[in-house]
Amino acid sequence: MSEVVTYSREGTIGVITVNYPPVNALSHAVRSGLVAALEQGQKDTDAKVLLLVCEGRTFIAGADIREFGKPMQEPGLAAMIELYENSDKPIVAAIHGTALGGGLETALGCHYRVALSSARVGLPEVKLGLLPGAGGTQRLPRLTGAQKALEMITTGDFVAAKDALALGIVDSVEEGSDIRAVGLTYAQKIADEGKPARRVRDLNDKIEADKGSDVFEQFRAGLQKKARGLFSPFKCVDAVEAAFNLPFDEGMKRERELFMECMESPQRAGLVHAFFAEREVSKVKGLPKDTPVRDIRKVGVIGAGTMGGGIAMNFANAGIPVTIAEVKQEALDKGLAVIRKNYENTAKKGRITQAQVEERMSLISGTLTYDDFGDADLVIEAVFESMDLKKKIFGQLDEACKPGAILASNTSTLSIDDIAAATKRPQDVIGLHFFSPANVMKLLEIVRGEKTSDEVKATAMALAKKIGKVGVMVGNCYGFVGNRMLHKRGAEAMALVNEGASPQQVDKVLTDLGFPMGQFAMSDLAGIDIGYSIRKERRKAGEDVPASWMDKLAEQGRLGQKTQAGVYKYEEGNRKPIPDPQVDQIIAEFRQEQGITPREITDQEILERCMYVMINEGAKILEEGIADRSLDIDITWIYGYGFPAYRGGPMFWADQIGLDTILATVKHFHEALGGEQWKPAGLLEKLVSEGRKFSDL
Ligand code: 3HC
Ligand code: NAI
Repeated sequence: MSEVVTYSREGTIGVITVNYPPVNALSHAVRSGLVAALEQGQKDTDAKVLLLVCEGRTFIAGADIREFGKPMQEPGLAAMIELYENSDKPIVAAIHGTALGGGLETALGCHYRVALSSARVGLPEVKLGLLPGAGGTQRLPRLTGAQKALEMITTGDFVAAKDALALGIVDSVEEGSDIRAVGLTYAQKIADEGKPARRVRDLNDKIEADKGSDVFEQFRAGLQKKARGLFSPFKCVDAVEAAFNLPFDEGMKRERELFMECMESPQRAGLVHAFFAEREVSKVKGLPKDTPVRDIRKVGVIGAGTMGGGIAMNFANAGIPVTIAEVKQEALDKGLAVIRKNYENTAKKGRITQAQVEERMSLISGTLTYDDFGDADLVIEAVFESMDLKKKIFGQLDEACKPGAILASNTSTLSIDDIAAATKRPQDVIGLHFFSPANVMKLLEIVRGEKTSDEVKATAMALAKKIGKVGVMVGNCYGFVGNRMLHKRGAEAMALVNEGASPQQVDKVLTDLGFPMGQFAMSDLAGIDIGYSIRKERRKAGEDVPASWMDKLAEQGRLGQKTQAGVYKYEEGNRKPIPDPQVDQIIAEFRQEQGITPREITDQEILERCMYVMINEGAKILEEGIADRSLDIDITWIYGYGFPAYRGGPMFWADQIGLDTILATVKHFHEALGGEQWKPAGLLEKLVSEGRKFSDL
């Protein structure tokens, strides 16, 4: 008997227990253990009913994702589940924590399901570029009907136990925390009532009811927009539809074929990489796991502008009181009103209640003096991007805040070390770089200064988790990881427009790659004035920053969405960018001034110049130790800039293209265009010469 699955008996109940931390994933050892334990239960004449239950924090959370891409070892999951379903002895699955993917499929292969009220169930395979491949697409609709099965399988969203009960996915929901005891009681009831082995495969009422309905076509049409560029959601619909068009066994075969198509797709590889990368980024190189963290019970934010307001909302959402400081009452009132409006809009959409709006607003207060930050554990500065201003503020904060309070800046580009030098506590200074809209975007780029203490770093990482962000620790340099790469892309996008491309052509190449918006639509969202003031700062610092047609936009008050005109124009209340002939005119004039004759530019050139320049910069970032691993860059881009997760992040994507191809193209542009940005990164050359990838580092 395998150690991870054991068989025992309690009275007339044969108990099959899975114990494979952390999440009881269905590894080869678990699958074979489950088969062996079932055989033992079948042979055990004293066992009338069998119970499947898990140790630890959860029921089975799915197939073992680490086995994907490796040769399958028998027994396969679907075959194992079939053995359970075919058992003559009734089998009860007792669910706590989460029954996910192959875990829920295993439970659906059992004859009865009881769950703790705290449990959740779901088929999240789609989030990994897959579909439920062990009967989930055939069994779930037999319990829920087509609509709900399609929703669950194409979104991968989890369903709470009480909803699962209403949908017929589980048969009973019990209070309590002792799943073994709950399972035993339920199994005993099945034994006492002499209930038979009830097989989901034989339940056909819901199938008959939805046969021939147009729900599948409707669903496909809806997915065109929601799942743009994705492969597996459409395959999920095909597989569920098979449950309605084919007998069970044939439906299972169809599911398998579609599952294998997904398994072999590059999107599956990208999404699985992203899944593990997201978990890896929380493990910071050189930061011991047991580093103490400081309590963050009260937070201050400076600046109630675009970022400050959104940042404050994160803390109120997590139940942490936050005070926002502004220079003028008017700006403060305006900022607080925007926050309220944001919450009210969320309430209108039904995502929070009006009571929650009030509760969160009651956690947010305003002030015009930093004296109110005396008891704050953390203060985050989010004022204009000016080093002089930031230094002044940090000097004042150092005076106003208690010892041990963490002083953070939301700067997008400026040196954390220089800001820290304005205080007498550089060990307590760190960059907390949120992304706009700060209450929505999941990334928190955490910038370590040279003197930032381990405790402050660990506190920042823990805080990210607490407020529902993915924290990525990066080093200090101009623009850190995300914006340093973005600015290279931005400069290239600008150059392409100078040379003859239109902003909308550049943006389309990027959205076709899977970005939610292009470079120029993004500038309009962030505000053209941001880039403008950054360029001004850099020129002031003596850097050679070329003239730009975007400076002209800023100077004409075309600041982006907020003024309904930027690179694009916007209709009142609509965020859709509309190409604007006036901008074409500004660009044409700029080209003339610069003596540029525009030329035809291919989409391929746009793709290579915008993306490979970023990858080359990413390689330099790795070389300099600004990012510890290529996966840190991948997660930064997925969660900060909407890089399509199904491509795994820019560095993973580069690995898939082939670093030799990237290097050759970088060299070509270096010769053709020149510029530091196209100088091949030493690391890229080294990896190519060694036949290695970024992900091998
Ligand atoms: N296989 C292998 N490892 C897994 C895993 C899985 N299915 N699910 C989680 N893990 C690992 C994580 O990598 C992490 O490892 P680490 O500690 O070494 O970093 C550890 O378990 C804990 O995971 P989390 O940090 O995510 O813990 P949480 O408590 O926050 O979340 C969870 C737990 C909700 C189970 C979450 O991990 C999750 O959503 N897991 C994925 C579930 C899933 O997608 N299942 C479907 C798999 S595909 C499938 O079943 C195919 C089938 O249809 C044929
Ligand atoms: P903003 O202009 O919308 O807001 C800045 C606010 O700070 C204004 O309301 C201003 O009145 C206030 N302010 C100025 N000096 C102050 C002082 N001494 N005390 C108190 N309040 C003061 O600017 P935004 O866009 O919110 O940017 C703030 C910071 O966040 C900048 O460093 C920027 O680089 C960074 N950032 C901006 C992002 C964006 O997309 N807008 C994204 C990530 C970071």
